[in-house]
Amino acid sequence: MRDLAPEMIRCISVSGLQISKNGTALLNVPRLNLDGPGPTMILGPNGAGKSLLLRCLHGLIAPDTGRVEQDGVPLNKDHKARQAMVFQKPVLLRRSVAANMDFVLKRRGLQRTVRKARIAELLAEGGLESKARQSARSLSGGEAQRLAILRALALDPDTLFLDEPTSALDPSATQMIERMILRASTRGVRIVMVTHDIGQARRLAADIVMMQGGRVVEHGDARQVLDAPQSDASRRYLAGGLVT
Ligand SMILES: Nc1ncnc2c1ncn2[C@@H]1O[C@H](COP(=O)(O)OP(=O)(O)OP(=O)(O)O)[C@@H](O)[C@H]1O
Ligand SMILES: [Mg+2]
Repeated sequence: MRDLAPEMIRCISVSGLQISKNGTALLNVPRLNLDGPGPTMILGPNGAGKSLLLRCLHGLIAPDTGRVEQDGVPLNKDHKARQAMVFQKPVLLRRSVAANMDFVLKRRGLQRTVRKARIAELLAEGGLESKARQSARSLSGGEAQRLAILRALALDPDTLFLDEPTSALDPSATQMIERMILRASTRGVRIVMVTHDIGQARRLAADIVMMQGGRVVEHGDARQVLDAPQSDASRRYLAGGLVT
């Protein structure tokens, strides 16, 4: 698998980002710079705008105003081709596990023998070797999520967006996915991930973006945000209280 030099870590920045629907501001992020090595974790209550922000960062939705840049250049097709996203509910093809992997590798134009070796390597990484021939639609939730992440990693992205990838998983499936994410991050893949799991943020995050009401209320070093949050909204969210 490709190793990226530290200087290749992608800097993602946002300026003047606004999305409104029917007169309601859903997202209002004047500035956000994700310029550390990551992983970056986005936290905040339901409806805070985390998924919307993630979709904007990946260029899946165009904001009403403002822009997203990667390494100082407005997000373009080439950037997007090197990014991958894993959704909370994995979207898998009605084919075998191996065929799901093969589908994305084929689109990369890889030779059959290279694809076979790569599929074996990736399935082993996700503990899915024994499931290669099984229909992807018959996988358990945790297995399906692992496959979705492996498929995203198969594209050798330089940036991986994940929206609550472990929210429905048991502790051991969660641990396996966290290991995969950390390995990818160590290889130099830029990870930006939404989670509600504060323990997970503690385990994985280098920096944390705390959101509420469509705004970024705090962004900083993970330990600092978790142990000494600067905003009332962060304090209440981390204390498990109601944020209104
Ligand atoms: N297409 C849309 N039209 C109208 N409102 C929308 C649309 N998409 C999102 N919203 C609203 O924007 C707000 C932010 O949604 P978003 O999905 O980003 O929340 P979230 O922080 O990811 O929440 P959760 O933790 O529940 O996943 C919500 O109030 C949602 O209802
Ligand atoms: Mg969401």
